Amino acid sequence: MSSDILKKLNEAVTFLKKDNSNNPTVGIVLGSGLGKFAEDIEVEKEIAYKDIPHFPVSTVEGHQGKIIFGNLAGKKVVCLSGRFHYYEGYSAQEIVFPIRVMGMLGIKTLLLSNAAGGVNANFKVGDIMLINDHISIDMVNPLIGKNINELGPRFPDMSDPYKRELLLQAKEIAKKLKIDVKEGVYFGVTGPSYETRAEYKMVQVMGGDAVGMSTVQECIAANHMGISVFAASVITDMGIREEDNIITHEEVLQYAAEAEPKLASIFKELIAIL
Ligand code: HPA
Repeated sequence: MSSDILKKLNEAVTFLKKDNSNNPTVGIVLGSGLGKFAEDIEVEKEIAYKDIPHFPVSTVEGHQGKIIFGNLAGKKVVCLSGRFHYYEGYSAQEIVFPIRVMGMLGIKTLLLSNAAGGVNANFKVGDIMLINDHISIDMVNPLIGKNINELGPRFPDMSDPYKRELLLQAKEIAKKLKIDVKEGVYFGVTGPSYETRAEYKMVQVMGGDAVGMSTVQECIAANHMGISVFAASVITDMGIREEDNIITHEEVLQYAAEAEPKLASIFKELIAIL
């Protein structure tokens, strides 16, 4: 099983390295409603997921996933436009396949973004939360199974999953740009249904500040490979609130898109100083 995954990873990496001189040092994954950031990349090459050996293919209709190689803020970057979620039916290993590919292509830093529901009473819709840690009790760990020693250790340390140094740098950048940012713990869930009132409360009681359906497995796979992770959430809805608690995907996409320029400028400045 593990050697099978490694064989597939090697085939995908060999394919992507062929006639592609870009040696990326930074990987980027864009969350729901946050895809516009990819337009800032000076594109060298784009490849559809469906053309890459063994890459998972997005199940979402009209959503053409692609990997973008290019330059951004003076760095060679590789960006996944379209990520894979557990609720789409992919296995945890499939979800992290593209992360591992980026790691094998040589990235040292991974920037993740996502849309999330706020449960910290000090947050409001439209806020950006820099992720300082995560909790997940129902997302399958992508490292389950025989360890792939070529990628990393059996029991990787997770004491600094979102690199503190990058977080501090991002906070400085936000201050300089006069962007108000929050900081907190991302609570990963499988979805796809949003949480019940009781579940939002549980997330809060258990120590989460925001809740979302991605990021955790990607972060674990990156840490396994020794890649430094920085991640940020856009708070697209408040789970804990007195009034009606109806949350729609449209609302999530709308608020994510509205906050996107703020997140994009933090990402760009951070990439510049990496
Ligand atoms: N819960 C889970 N995932 C989400 C939410 C939420 O409230 N908002 C955006 N993604």
